[in-house]
Amino acid sequence: MAENGENSDGGQKTKPPIKKKRPEDFRFGPILGEGSYSTVKLACEISTGREFAMKILEKRHIVKEKKVPQVEREKKVLSRLDHPFFVKLYFTFQDPERLYFGLSVARKGELLSKIKQLGKFDVDCTRFYSAQIVSALQHLHSLNIIHRDLKPENILFNDLMQIQITDFGTAKEVTESDLETPKASSFVGTAQYVSPELLKDKQAGVSSDLWALGCIIFQMLSGKFPFQAPNEYLIFQQILSCRYELPDYFPDDAKDLITNLLQLDPLKRIGCPTCGGYDALMSHPFFKGINWDTLLIAPAPQVM
Ligand code: ADE
Repeated sequence: MAENGENSDGGQKTKPPIKKKRPEDFRFGPILGEGSYSTVKLACEISTGREFAMKILEKRHIVKEKKVPQVEREKKVLSRLDHPFFVKLYFTFQDPERLYFGLSVARKGELLSKIKQLGKFDVDCTRFYSAQIVSALQHLHSLNIIHRDLKPENILFNDLMQIQITDFGTAKEVTESDLETPKASSFVGTAQYVSPELLKDKQAGVSSDLWALGCIIFQMLSGKFPFQAPNEYLIFQQILSCRYELPDYFPDDAKDLITNLLQLDPLKRIGCPTCGGYDALMSHPFFKGINWDTLLIAPAPQVM
């Protein structure tokens, strides 16, 4: 390599190499979140003062738990995502013991904490955040990526109170043929949000994220899960028979939307390619008044 950035062989300009960051480049602050395989800490880059949510993974633990493919998948998927409703991956580096992912900071916590704090959301707030999730899923699915573990714990808020979807360890990149006939997988998400097709046929496609969306809208409006029972086996039985009750106080258009999302047959779920796609979902009456073009810059309603 020539010093002026030209290849010695081809004379073509190449980008200067990006210097990998190191743990010493950061001042680490409080823990923002902890998972089974990682800890997320606030980290301030000393040279710039910029703050990141640093996801730190112990290599030994990842290898021992056979989670290497999951970590690689998360890095690959996150590096493809550049959209305001997703946590952004700025850089990665490693030291002999750990892997580090530098992510955007979502300071305002999880959707789950907000629902718990308030008991439930009012209809306008539910509509607004459901629309942000729909818009995020439209983007994700347009890249042929499925999240597979969408739930209020994985939906964070930034300073502007916009959603930041995170945790792509279980996400999957699907091919066009997978979209039509998804392949069997050993993956099972979180009991309350898992789709019937995943339980029955071990298959998850874009529609599985739409099922989770139905569960989340139900939960925002009521503070409760649509499928709840004393143990996972009984929750799965309820899901497999699509046994849930819509509270009387839900507005009719919300009832209709949830019913159309919580369809046993993934091909009949509103928003999936065989059921009108995102045009049908976004023009559902529940979303009346939502301006999909300005959702990114629209001020968030007071959460209540
Ligand atoms: N917890 C997990 N990921 C986070 C992030 N990106 N920002 C804030 N808290 C987090």
